[in-house]
Amino acid sequence: MESKRLAPTPPMGWMTWNFFADKIHEQDLREMADAMVASGMVEAGYNYLIIDDGWQGGRDNRNNIIADPKKFPSGIKALADYVHSKGIKLGIYSDAAQLTCAGYTGSLGFEEQDAKTFASWGIDYLKYDYCYAPKDSAIAVARYTKMGEALRKSGRDIVFGVCEWGQLQPWHWALNAGGQLWRSTFDVRDKWRNLDKRHPDQAGYGILDIVDINADLHAYAGPGRWNDADMLVVGLYGKPGPSGDLGGVGMNDMQYQSQMSLWSVMASPLTATNDVRNMNEATKRILLNKEVIAVNQDPLGKQAERKVKDDTWNVFVKPLQNGDMAVAILNRGDAAKNYSIDWANLGLNGKYEVRDLWEHKTVGKGKGWKGLVQPHETKLFRLKKI
Ligand code: GLA
Repeated sequence: MESKRLAPTPPMGWMTWNFFADKIHEQDLREMADAMVASGMVEAGYNYLIIDDGWQGGRDNRNNIIADPKKFPSGIKALADYVHSKGIKLGIYSDAAQLTCAGYTGSLGFEEQDAKTFASWGIDYLKYDYCYAPKDSAIAVARYTKMGEALRKSGRDIVFGVCEWGQLQPWHWALNAGGQLWRSTFDVRDKWRNLDKRHPDQAGYGILDIVDINADLHAYAGPGRWNDADMLVVGLYGKPGPSGDLGGVGMNDMQYQSQMSLWSVMASPLTATNDVRNMNEATKRILLNKEVIAVNQDPLGKQAERKVKDDTWNVFVKPLQNGDMAVAILNRGDAAKNYSIDWANLGLNGKYEVRDLWEHKTVGKGKGWKGLVQPHETKLFRLKKI
């Protein structure tokens, strides 16, 4: 119940990591909050601003965790007050070890104290990472449960994002540990694909690599419990930084649009990480498509099942609360190709009106659909029974 109340639909927001890495400053974050409002991001549902790794300045003489005074001269509480006044919630980051992934102060051994500090600052979301921690399920469960309980006792509703990268199958235990979302893979890079199965963490995950892991986890998702496929790299265009490492050379708008479609049907949290202050038209069109967001945020909270899976075609079906079906058709191949599908082959009998959520228009009526799909394009349809 607790989980359901805290994240009834997949959390949406903007996270610092892939744009700023650890070079964050309160002034930039205030500007980002302003831009989230001005650009329509907040109105579209992106209502968390999440400070990722790099904000920490160690502990004071009472072991209270403190922000780096150079990066946050006014303190985190002042930033929380500022973003709250704009209708935005504030997220922060820590790690279930002594150090975080980027080498800053972690929360191990200080869970209750840090949870109370976060609550006193007005924090609404904690991303809790797993660098420098043992690769052992029992220890991971214990460490996440400790923080999950500490947050619950903190006196504030704080969404708990488990960031263990899927290695210890958090979809089996993160909910009980108090989490509402859990990362299912290593970090997304700004690229279409490249899974070196022998060294996946070093090869860098692209969109297809993440889809191929996250799609199989549909049974674990629901209101208050989400498989987090990591940030939307939409609009980064190969920017140097974390998402640009490990072959993250950038993608084209068709590929970014595919990520948005796929993350939406997979009911993944939608966390942008681009420069919201300077978005081109294509980026806005992708991130702010309300019909696509409505699929992601549908209150039924189902993650799509991948009903067709071959080298070229993937077809996903996500049931929606009003009885409509969202259907995503992905062309994984490098050439434009025609596709033809009978809805009955997806278990959808009868006739449907088909609305294209990127074209914003009805593109057919009947027992199926056929048409051209561009390389790496994902068609996203909403089917209504007629
Ligand atoms: C890990 C996480 C990333 C990011 C960095 C910060 O790699 O998976 O999302 O939080 O740490 O150091």
